[in-house]
Amino acid sequence: MVNALQRIDNKVRLLRQTLLPTEVHYDDLDDYRDIIAAIKCLDVRGAPAIGIAAAYGLALAAQRNNVAGIDDLPTFADEIRNARPTAVNLSWAVDRVTTRLRQEKPQGHQAIVALLWNEAETIHAEDRHLCRAMGEHGAALIPDKARVLTHCNTGALATGGIGTAFGVIYTAHQQGKQILVYADETRPLLQGARLTAWELMQAGIPCRLICDSTAAMLMRQGGVDLAIVGADRITTQGDVANKIGTYSVAVACHHHDIPFYVAAPYSTFDESLVNGDEIPIEERHADEITRGFGRLTAPEGVEVYAPAFDITPAELVSAYITDQGIRPGKRHRS
Ligand code: MRU
Repeated sequence: MVNALQRIDNKVRLLRQTLLPTEVHYDDLDDYRDIIAAIKCLDVRGAPAIGIAAAYGLALAAQRNNVAGIDDLPTFADEIRNARPTAVNLSWAVDRVTTRLRQEKPQGHQAIVALLWNEAETIHAEDRHLCRAMGEHGAALIPDKARVLTHCNTGALATGGIGTAFGVIYTAHQQGKQILVYADETRPLLQGARLTAWELMQAGIPCRLICDSTAAMLMRQGGVDLAIVGADRITTQGDVANKIGTYSVAVACHHHDIPFYVAAPYSTFDESLVNGDEIPIEERHADEITRGFGRLTAPEGVEVYAPAFDITPAELVSAYITDQGIRPGKRHRS
């Protein structure tokens, strides 16, 4: 499995995901502003991975900027927290690191930096275990010979381990189940095509790439047994923010009576929000649609609406696969 990011001495080695699948290129970063830039341009992306990147970013900020007291950190913390708005893992990681700092009160620059690196690595290692746990729990929901549809990228590139939804698929495959994965290409930045198809092929998991708009047709043809996706934030009533297009998959699953599962670690559950409409939805730059990957594909100057995520209401979710086990969704009960 590939590492999206990794601590190397006092730097962070980061895989430039925007270059995949044509180039596997790592950069060693020692400035927290480069981490923020990487999060914004999606060189590192996926909710758990940006949480991990945020924690490493705080360590770099303290290291480079001679932070000598806990009160010097909030400016950097806020800057990192605001890199992207939708995935709650980002602010969760920043809060976790700063809480530990306030509890342990390390004295002096060296001690603060050491604690920040330690907590970032702890979050990273913990995510590896959370992915394994989700994989084990979720694989029980995947029958042998299942045809599984997934959306966006939720694998090692998006996490610190084997992935969320991808980790469930990977675990089922490891258990010897013969599964076929349909990967939505995931417009407009093609995380499904560039990243998920790449990871599936690397893992030797049989897969077919489809356009997002093929999913409903494929379901109507009887070609999908279940869908499984990740999440960027889940509210207390179970509404799910995930990559734009997820809601359409959930609606189509409901219409065709196909189970729709959401896999996410506890760090993606936001206990402070009830209704999914309260989740801030990131809007991306028009260029990502009108000149994605460098070629003009729409009339110059056309107005664009480009939300990066959508909300799937809890009523459309069959079950949540978490590190703690399977939690039934509202669709399950109806
Ligand atoms: O914009 P991205 O690529 O960061 O969006 C990622 C997703 O929507 C994933 O499905 C989500 O973060 C879960 S990843 C384990």
